[in-house]
This record gives sequence, structure tokens and C-alpha cells, in this order.
Amino acid sequence: MTAIEKRKQRHIRLSLEENVQADVGTGFEDVRLIHRALPEIDLEDVSTSVDLFGKGLSAPLIISAITGGTENAKRINSTLAAVAEELGIGIGVGSQRVALENPSTEHTFSVVREKAPSTLVVGNLGCPQLSLGWGVPEARCCIEMIRADALAIHMNPLQEAVQVEGETRYRGILDKVREVVEGIDVPLVMKETGCGIAFETAIELENAGVEGLDVSGVGGTSWAAVEHHIAKEVRQRDQEFLGEALWNWGIPTAISVVETSSSTTLKIVASGGIRTGVEMAKAIALGADAVGIAQPFLVKAVEGRDALREHIQRILLEFRTVMFLVGARDIEDLKRVRVVILGRTAEWLRARGFKPGEYALRGA
Ligand SMILES: Cc1cc2nc3c(=O)[nH]c(=O)nc-3n(C[C@H](O)[C@H](O)[C@H](O)COP(=O)(O)O)c2cc1C
Repeated sequence: MTAIEKRKQRHIRLSLEENVQADVGTGFEDVRLIHRALPEIDLEDVSTSVDLFGKGLSAPLIISAITGGTENAKRINSTLAAVAEELGIGIGVGSQRVALENPSTEHTFSVVREKAPSTLVVGNLGCPQLSLGWGVPEARCCIEMIRADALAIHMNPLQEAVQVEGETRYRGILDKVREVVEGIDVPLVMKETGCGIAFETAIELENAGVEGLDVSGVGGTSWAAVEHHIAKEVRQRDQEFLGEALWNWGIPTAISVVETSSSTTLKIVASGGIRTGVEMAKAIALGADAVGIAQPFLVKAVEGRDALREHIQRILLEFRTVMFLVGARDIEDLKRVRVVILGRTAEWLRARGFKPGEYALRGA
């Protein structure tokens, strides 16, 4: 096993066995949807279907990028993809860097397209690789490997800074992103990995030509936490302390959804700490087009296909029920429902120049 394959294996193990969750909220705890005692629709009228990046989905849900590169990762990807196909939701693969460097591991990614022949499949590559010289040819290779419908490029400056021997060169990335956008023929999605995206960055990325943003904000899996545990295992004290200090760094998911969706016309995927169908509905009402979930789906995929399917079905039942309770017949209706934002989240938004109460009117 190469060093990078070992690292991937470690990420899975630590995400399953250690506490790697942020201990600050996503902001959704401050968001309230308004109950309608008379929804004026029947529950059976509710349609959760959407189109995202050219694919029809039964609900606006994506299994976020998790893994690839090892035999264990292949088993996990196979389970995730089979359930995604069965339920008609999207799926992202983990960083494909490992397969570009070692093509004998490609099958651990391409299994996703084999098991999910028709649903939305999103490829994945990292900004650090772009800054080290990769570009259009590698991006195309990732897309071909899994016949991806879209390509995500992950932004992970915090993770790289905490990682032992991480790759922290981020200068000039916007130009590289522009090149990749022009050189590929599927939508490019820029994806954070647990620290959120501010509106200033969202606007820069929209100007660079990307079609989507996956905000992956604070409130769920913390990569400072994951790298903290790794540093502890390999006795790198400075990185261990740094990971602890920055455990909760970033922009909470709900705030990032408001900032990005109200300042651009990009497709917005809300992720980072989303765990329930209620939070899923809140994210869409705040302006997201879809929701992504990673760590809890990893846990269930390891338990097996039935456990994962049941878990996702429960989230979708909850989501559908909430749509009924706010009188939303479809996803466009849900985007228009009124929300109330309280407490710290409202204060944060006001301090950033947003007027809580107005941002949810996007598309109205
Ligand atoms: C084990 C594991 C591996 C991950 N690997 C990647 C990756 O390769 N590329 C990526 O863009 N995000 C990766 N992520 C980040 C997730 O896609 C997601 O943005 C983040 O975990 C927040 O979502 P969550 O709180 O639902 O876990 C990974 C997450 C986990 C738990």
C-alpha cells in the first residue's frame, strides 16, 4: 500500500472510531420553518424530485465525497452507489488523486458507475493537486474514469495546514479553476470540506465560470479533528495541537448557504453536519438546491446495504413530511417558504450585511 492509500484507510478508520465531529452547531438550530396548520395540499401531492447537473433525482440529496483507492474503499463505494441508484439520489466519489497516481486502483472508483449506471455521479479532485501542476488532462481523466456527470474540486486549506506534511500552496488556484472549467465538458463544482464558503469566494468562483458550490460548512465532520487524531498517532505534537485549536474553524453550514445562494446564481449544495430531513428542508428553504451528507452514510454503509437504505429512507420520509407541513408541493415551493432565523445565526448574517428574512426570497 502506498502512503496515500494508507492515509485514505486511516481517514475511514478515524471517521468511524474517533470523535471527528465539530462541537459547534451548523446554524440550522437557529432556523425555523413556519408550520402551516392548513397546508392546503395533500401529503401525497408532495413531490421531492429535482434536476441537478443534468440528472433527475427522486430527492435533492447527494452522498458526499468519501472514498476510493483501497479494497475496503471499493466495498464502501459499491454499497453507497448501489443504494444511491436504488433510491435515485446522487453520489460523489472521494478524491481520485490516488487513481491518477496509481491506475491499478481505478476500479475502486469505477465501481461507483457500475453500481449506479443512471444516477448523478460526481468526480473529485483537490486544489492542492491543481497548484502542483495538474489541470485539464487530469480532470478529464477523473471524469472518464467514472463517466462523471459533474466534477467537484475540493478546497481544503485547513486540512492541509493541519496535516503532517500537508500541501499548503493555494496561490493561483482561481486561474487553474478557470482553465479546468474551459477544458472539461461537465459542470465544475467547487467543494469545501467542512469550513464553509463565504460570499466573497462564491462570487470569485462564479466569475471563474464554475456551475456549482458545495459549501460543506462547519457543524459536522471536522478535518482539523481527523488530522489531529492522525498527528497524535504519529506523535507530531505541533500538528496535534493545531488540529485541536482549529477543530471548529469556519463558517457554519446554514450561514454559508445563505451567503452563497443569495450572492450568486450558482447551484448550491448544502453539506457539513446535515443529519436529518428537517435540516435538509431548512437548507433548501434557505436557498440550497440540494443537500450532501458524508460521515453518517459512511457509518451505515459499513453496517451494510440494508442499514444504509433504511437510514436514507427515514431522512427522506422526514423531508417529505416537513414539505407537507409547510405546504410545499415541490422543491420550488420549498425554496419560497418563509423562514425565521434566530440567535447567533441571525446576528452573524446581519454582521455580514444580510437581512435575515429576505434571503429566503431567492426565486420568489
Ligand atoms: C472518511 C471521509 C473522507 C472524505 N474524503 C473526501 C474527499 O476525498 N474529497 C472531498 O471533497 N471530501 C471528502 N470528505 C468530506 C465530505 O465530503 C464532507 O464535505 C464532509 O465530511 C462534511 O460532511 P458531513 O458532516 O456530513 O460528514 C470526506 C469525508 C469523510 C468522512
